[in-house]
Amino acid sequence: MELDITPLPDNAPLGAMVRGWDPSEPLDDETRDHIAEALARYRVLVFRGQPQPTDDELVGFVQRFGDPIKGSEWFRNAGNLPEILPVTNIRGRDGVRLGVEGAQDLEWHADYSYVATPAKMSFLNAVELPAEPPRTYFSDMVTAFESLEPELQDKLRGLRATHSIANYMAEPDRQFQAKVERDAAAGVEAPPIPEAEHPVVVRHPDTGNEILYVSRGITRQIVGMAKPESSALLKELHLHATRPERVYAHDWELGDLVMFDALGTLHRRDSWDPTQRRLMRQLSTACAIS
Ligand SMILES: [Fe+2]
Repeated sequence: MELDITPLPDNAPLGAMVRGWDPSEPLDDETRDHIAEALARYRVLVFRGQPQPTDDELVGFVQRFGDPIKGSEWFRNAGNLPEILPVTNIRGRDGVRLGVEGAQDLEWHADYSYVATPAKMSFLNAVELPAEPPRTYFSDMVTAFESLEPELQDKLRGLRATHSIANYMAEPDRQFQAKVERDAAAGVEAPPIPEAEHPVVVRHPDTGNEILYVSRGITRQIVGMAKPESSALLKELHLHATRPERVYAHDWELGDLVMFDALGTLHRRDSWDPTQRRLMRQLSTACAIS
């Protein structure tokens, strides 16, 4: 398959546009390697202008890059395939939410950093968009680490942090309420809230790059550090990592598939008009990190 991969214009700090993908064609090794190399270089790839892949085609594509996380099993979605997590505010005729999340904004995070084997690559595909689609923002956590003072880099290399979605679960109107409702319907009263501990600086398994692996949305505390000191450090790192020059803002078009390095970037999303429907298909591959 002949792909045209070009860096995004307007001085975007990361990202490239990919044209020429045919989702109905199996991905040959050469094309797969071409995409993997581009991802290592640009960290965010926007596939645009192709026909919308079927669920099976989408999972098949993702499987060429790693083991997909069965995201909708934990979230108890009613999706067709467990690898595809519907991220949507749409409700069924019975009023039951069909996916995770509402129309609120979503804080900076790395996908699945709250479990032991987090996302290595993530994939977001726009199936249905509101008239004014909320932007998704990506920040480059490789240059975020590279641009820190050497003394701080050394200090961070020795630290670990806890990641948890407890805050989301505790807010009844927020993103994970749909999962809580589905747990209740399935007779699970107090579902365990996953939590994981990871190094603050992670080495990317493919590129060897050091990554600042903390996020405002999910990282809770530096292990072994008093809460005020930990919060101050995490805030400093958050402000540094999400400076405008490190952020690419994606304006969605229907059918876009955005594939991104889920270790080397953080992402967040704006809110949108909750009376309007938005449906995304989300997938991730898993990896062990150290
Ligand atoms: Fe995400």
